[in-house]
Order: sequence, then structure tokens, then C-alpha cells
Amino acid sequence: MSDASYLSLEKLTLAYGDTVAVADLDLDIRKGELIALLGPSGCGKTTTMRAIAGLLPVKSGQVRLDGADMTRVPANKRAVGLVFQSYALFPHLSVYENVAFGLKLKGMRGAELDTKVQAGLKSVGLSSFANRKPAELSGGQQQRVALARSMVMEPKVLLLDEPLSNLDARLRLEMRTELQRVQKETGVTMIFVTHDQAEALALADRIVVMKGGAIEQIGTPEDIYNRPVSSFVADFVGFENIFPLEGGKLRTSGGLIELSGEAPSAAGLAWRPRMVTLGTGPFRGTVRGTSFAGDSREYLLDTSLGAIKAEVEAALPAHALGADLLFDLPAGKAALLSKFS
Ligand SMILES: Nc1ncnc2c1ncn2[C@@H]1O[C@H](COP(=O)(O)OP(=O)(O)OP(=O)(O)O)[C@@H](O)[C@H]1O
Ligand SMILES: [Mg+2]
Repeated sequence: MSDASYLSLEKLTLAYGDTVAVADLDLDIRKGELIALLGPSGCGKTTTMRAIAGLLPVKSGQVRLDGADMTRVPANKRAVGLVFQSYALFPHLSVYENVAFGLKLKGMRGAELDTKVQAGLKSVGLSSFANRKPAELSGGQQQRVALARSMVMEPKVLLLDEPLSNLDARLRLEMRTELQRVQKETGVTMIFVTHDQAEALALADRIVVMKGGAIEQIGTPEDIYNRPVSSFVADFVGFENIFPLEGGKLRTSGGLIELSGEAPSAAGLAWRPRMVTLGTGPFRGTVRGTSFAGDSREYLLDTSLGAIKAEVEAALPAHALGADLLFDLPAGKAALLSKFS
């Protein structure tokens, strides 16, 4: 086993009856890595997690962990922890008992058990809440109990399936930091499912973007944010102006358009609103919408290329609805897409 493949999914195919949900998926995860699984609803994130945990039989392919083939190993023998969105704490048990539950099942008792549970509670900042019942905790605190309950089992891999989606914005941010801290402190390998690209960018060592049961792109947050490989990923991470290229020209709703500057060779080009030059350039647009976002102002332009979104510093003079503006899509700033779907 190399360091690069502490957890390996090899040609993994997963199905519900005859319906294939994940096909031929290959993924290598390093020990101690924090991986975010990102993708639209139904793309196979939970299905993949269930297979890693041993909760879903594998149709074909392999799950390998720490050098061993886990494909047919039952869930309770895999040393894989799982925290779901609905974290299902035992309501009649105290926080302490919830965290102790799995350790007791393993036969742990006495001082050893107490030390482990106390350390678990401390790691998520809940030492003083040990005697409360789950119903007496906030959503974020309940989520931390769920995290402690999994962490005390010292899993080789911890899977988190949208663990923060029940929390309000402030708590999400707090828990996000907490997760990152616990992960760095313990060095546990983590796979984290989220719908939220900002969350994935903020947390992950690497992001896996899934689409339709397959991996579309794997990369660092910088890769995914700045160098999406496909129109799908570009769209997912906020490039709003995305066009296919044909013979070096942009294919737009207004026909084939020649770009200023040398046309790169790619299947498509994408610009974030901020990459659009406003005020000069070969193209013309009419302001159809404008919104103020604090530091910046966004414009929706009607153009011969179709709708274009541009974002400029709010300190610049504002343009009124209906104003005619020149603009440019600089080829040199565009993300080069090798795949257009
Ligand atoms: N128990 C099931 N029986 C049949 N099909 C299922 C079952 N669970 C999931 N599927 C299907 O498998 C595909 C992948 O589902 P999965 O739950 O893995 O998606 P997901 O990426 O986790 O989506 P979400 O973001 O909505 O949670 C979907 O098409 C879904 O309808
Ligand atoms: Mg899911």
C-alpha cells in the first residue's frame, strides 16, 4: 500500500436492483486527507459513502482500506465511522452515554471507558454538557455529540454525509471550523459530503466533483475553483459565462463569435462575472439587471452573445438599467474547459 492509497475505490460499481447509481469509480485517498464529495442531488454521493461503510453491497469492483480488501467485510468490522445529516442520537441517553455507547458495545468498561468518553467530549467542547439529554442541546451541540460518538471509536476513516445541513449559517461556520480542527488534531482520514461549494472549498484538502454516478474532476480547492475541466464543474463553482468553442470561435446564442486575442484550443471557455471587462471591448450589451453586493456590483447584460453576467468594484460609477455598455471576454483570463456537456 502506498501512502497515496490508504483508502482505494477500484472500478467500483454500485446499483439498486438493476439501476446503476455509481459506475466504474476509481478514487485513491491518502491517510489523513480531508476529502469533500461535491455534486448535485442524485449524483451518487451517499451511495458511494454507504459502500465505503459496508452498508451497501458492491456490484463490482473493490473497496480497499489500509492495505486490506474490505469489499465483503461487514460494516461493524471495517473501522469506518459514519455521521449522517440526521445524526440520530439516542434521545433517552445522556450526552455522556451517547458517546459511550459504541465503546460499551465493544466491551470497554471502567476507567478506560471514562477516559475515552471524557477525551471525546473535550475534543468537541462539550465536557460540561455530559449529563444533558440530546433534546436539551442546540442543533450544533447535537451535531458535535454525533461527531464525538464517532471519533471515540477511532475509525480509520470517518464519513460525514452532509453533517452540517441542518444547522443555521452561523453554526455551520462554527462546526466547519470545529471539524477541520478535530481532523487536523487527530489526523483521521475524512470524507465529507456537501452540496455547498463554499464549504468544500474552505474545508477540503481535495475536492471530488461527481456527476451522474461518476467522477467529473478531482483536485485541490484551487484547481476546482480556478481550473474547472468541464462546463459542468465550471457552472458548479460559479463561472456564469460558459460557452463552447468551435474552430476557435465562441458558439453563442447569437452565432459564432470571434474573440479578441488568440483563441485557445479547448472545448469551451468560461469566465466568472469578475473576469468580464466592462466599459471597453469589442462587444456591446444593455444593462437588464443590476445588484449591489457590498464590495462589488453585478450587472446582467443583454448582448449579441446572449445573457452575460459581469461584476465590478462597487466604488466604480454605477450604470443605470437600460444603459448601453462595451465589454470584453478576454480569452487570456478564461478557464479552458476540456469537456463541454
Ligand atoms: N434505496 C434506493 N433505491 C433505489 N434507488 C436509489 C436508492 N437510494 C438512492 N437511489 C438512487 O441512486 C442515485 C444516487 O443516489 P444518492 O443517494 O447516492 O445521491 P446523492 O448524491 O447522495 O444525492 P443527495 O445530494 O440528494 O443526497 C439516485 O438516482 C437515487 O435516486
Ligand atoms: Mg445524499
